[in-house]
Amino acid sequence: MSVVIITGGSSGIGESILKAISHYKPEMRFFNLSRSSVEINLKNLTHIPCDLSDSAELTAALGVLKDGLKTVPQGKILLINNAGYGLYGLVPQMDKAGLLGMLDLNNRAMVQLTLELLPQMIERGGGIINVSSIAAYVPTPTLAVYGATKAFVLSWGMALREELKAQGINVLTVCPGPTATKFFSRAGFEKSPLPPVIGRTPDFVAKRALNAAAKNRALITTGWTNKLLRWVCAVVPRELGVPISFGVLKFVRLRSLKK
Ligand SMILES: NC(=O)c1ccc[n+]([C@@H]2O[C@H](COP(=O)([O-])OP(=O)(O)OC[C@H]3O[C@@H](n4cnc5c(N)ncnc54)[C@H](OP(=O)(O)O)[C@@H]3O)[C@@H](O)[C@H]2O)c1
Repeated sequence: MSVVIITGGSSGIGESILKAISHYKPEMRFFNLSRSSVEINLKNLTHIPCDLSDSAELTAALGVLKDGLKTVPQGKILLINNAGYGLYGLVPQMDKAGLLGMLDLNNRAMVQLTLELLPQMIERGGGIINVSSIAAYVPTPTLAVYGATKAFVLSWGMALREELKAQGINVLTVCPGPTATKFFSRAGFEKSPLPPVIGRTPDFVAKRALNAAAKNRALITTGWTNKLLRWVCAVVPRELGVPISFGVLKFVRLRSLKK
């Protein structure tokens, strides 16, 4: 790889991925798309400020990105679709713009970036990492739209992987469980609802994701408790799994939300 393009490298899992790659490959050229800039010190980084949920801003950012890519004309491109957010609550009581914004960021921006960059990636070679979530494994009442957007990321990534195999583009879908990042403050919590044992760090997730990408894996669930959850979700019928998911999320999340 000679180029890494990441969305949401300004904090959390994205920032940890940038740190990890730059540690091993400092010569790589980095492009980050997010609203705020990247605070870690990276020599070869271009930050493209952009609200990815706004299609006009995304289109303008793509123009800047494509011009930037001309300065690195050779070598494979790694695209990491990481930016995303989630909102907890019961759908009828939630802000519509916030819910629709999740579709725009978590899904639309990811697909648009991929479609725009694929021709160059097919020509030059490359890989894609999409950050989904364990919320993709079972419908998540109290997190209904977010869970559905992450199921989209999982389905899209696995399907795209098959289509792109012949062109040598590897697509990895990463499903982290609860991770100690700014995700929870944006999701409406005053303080992180994660118990220290379950809450994994973004560095842990980044390391697992990059190891899986290096091994050309299709799907990685980070952390053994999350892996266990994945297998439970695969065997329990949905009619039973969804009410259980609702009960658990109401108990562990909804009651700690800001009033
Ligand atoms: N933390 C968890 O428990 C968890 C679990 C499973 C999956 N995930 C997924 O992991 C990914 C990274 O989240 P995180 O946990 O690292 O949370 P985070 O610390 O809040 O990071 C989110 C990143 O997305 C960017 N972003 C948010 N809204 C944006 C917008 N409108 N336009 C452009 N960039 C935007 C943010 O940058 P700016 O604010 O600067 O724009 C930030 O860099 C997300 O897709 C999330 O769904 C997180």
